[in-house]
Amino acid sequence: MTNNEVPQGGFAEAGADLELVGISKRFPGFTAIEELDLTIPAGSFFALLGPSGCGKTTTLRLIAGLEEPTTGRILIGGRDVTATKAYQRPVNTVFQSYALFPNMTIMENVAFGLKRRGIKNADSLAHEALQLVELDHLAARKPKQLSGGQQQRVALARAVVNRPALLLLDEPLGALDLKLRRQMQVELKDIQSEVGLTFLHVTHDQEEAMTMADTVAVMNKGRIEQMGAPQDLYELPKTAFVAKFLGQSNLFTGDVVTTAKSSIVVDAHGTRIEVPTDRAQLHNGRITVGVRPEKVTLHDSAPKADSSRNVIGPGRITDVSFSGVSTQYEVTVPHHGAISVFAQNTSISTLHRDGDQVWLSWSVGHTFGLADEAEAEPVSRFHADLDTSMIAVQSRKDLEAELEEA
Ligand SMILES: Nc1ncnc2c1ncn2[C@@H]1O[C@H](COP(=O)(O)OP(=O)(O)O)[C@@H](O)[C@H]1O
Ligand SMILES: [Mg+2]
Repeated sequence: MTNNEVPQGGFAEAGADLELVGISKRFPGFTAIEELDLTIPAGSFFALLGPSGCGKTTTLRLIAGLEEPTTGRILIGGRDVTATKAYQRPVNTVFQSYALFPNMTIMENVAFGLKRRGIKNADSLAHEALQLVELDHLAARKPKQLSGGQQQRVALARAVVNRPALLLLDEPLGALDLKLRRQMQVELKDIQSEVGLTFLHVTHDQEEAMTMADTVAVMNKGRIEQMGAPQDLYELPKTAFVAKFLGQSNLFTGDVVTTAKSSIVVDAHGTRIEVPTDRAQLHNGRITVGVRPEKVTLHDSAPKADSSRNVIGPGRITDVSFSGVSTQYEVTVPHHGAISVFAQNTSISTLHRDGDQVWLSWSVGHTFGLADEAEAEPVSRFHADLDTSMIAVQSRKDLEAELEEA
């Protein structure tokens, strides 16, 4: 059997490609998904990353056949399944709230689907799946005799045992504490490479998406803003949302004042910031450029002019947070607000203190230019915690005013 012949309700020998073509989903009065085009190659570990309410679960429900798309087509292994019933699709889903049958043993839980389909060697397949999640020794127990993390692994075994060509994981680790989460992330990754199925993992946790997936798609308000290898997304974000949702970014908005072949220069409140042309989405007019905090270096005095580096300052350190291996500084620079700097603790003498005057610099090559402006906060419309953010903005404004007077 080739990847293009995905079994209906049978066992897949390999993962299948998943293709979403022009998918949209409108609920009465609300558009949850807009014009979604996506191809996930067979055997890959793909993460759909976005804040709560951006349409991740809806996307999975469409793929699983639990919702009908308003427009568009869904293909699995090259076969159009848009009109296919959920139970006939070669798809299994592990939801965040997994439900095991309380009165059945672990073994019976895992073998249940196989037996219902009349698979003969259901028991041995179930043991195999339990071995995969390292729980075969607990096969005779009931769910309530297992920890939350172990139950989560049983839910995973129950999905994997069906050898779905496509496994959908909807925040399956959300209920676990941090240590268990990390452990499960590693296990999931191992299982995926061992069985070679196509995994579509949905999460709002950027670290989880980055560490686990081959490809990450960042979703915002029902659209995919950017898609690629984790490192590419991190090093070269294309929108303000991606720059801020995936890790942290320092962003500066200004007008392009010089355009050369290899780089362009932006004037942001009197500070010249240069960005390589091929790292900028826009090349003229008003644009937003940025740099990641760990790329920025602190200086006690104005650094010597160097055409390969961008320099901002002076500013004042307004927050120091020491975490052992590194220190995170917040530097407030007039007109530019608070700039984050992560510094590795390589020597005691590099420690700066709250209130110190500093300059900042970073390599031009680490600068990126965005396709949109950094106006709105990246947090979704569902976190309307205006009070606290207003207070934060307020105190920052006060601080900046003070600095300007000084
Ligand atoms: N059946 C429905 N009717 C109306 N709106 C819905 C329905 N299902 C989901 N939505 C809305 O669609 C948006 C996306 O939801 P969802 O896909 O669950 O987001 P996520 O999983 O990313 O948190 C939300 O605003 C949600 O309220
Ligand atoms: Mg969801």
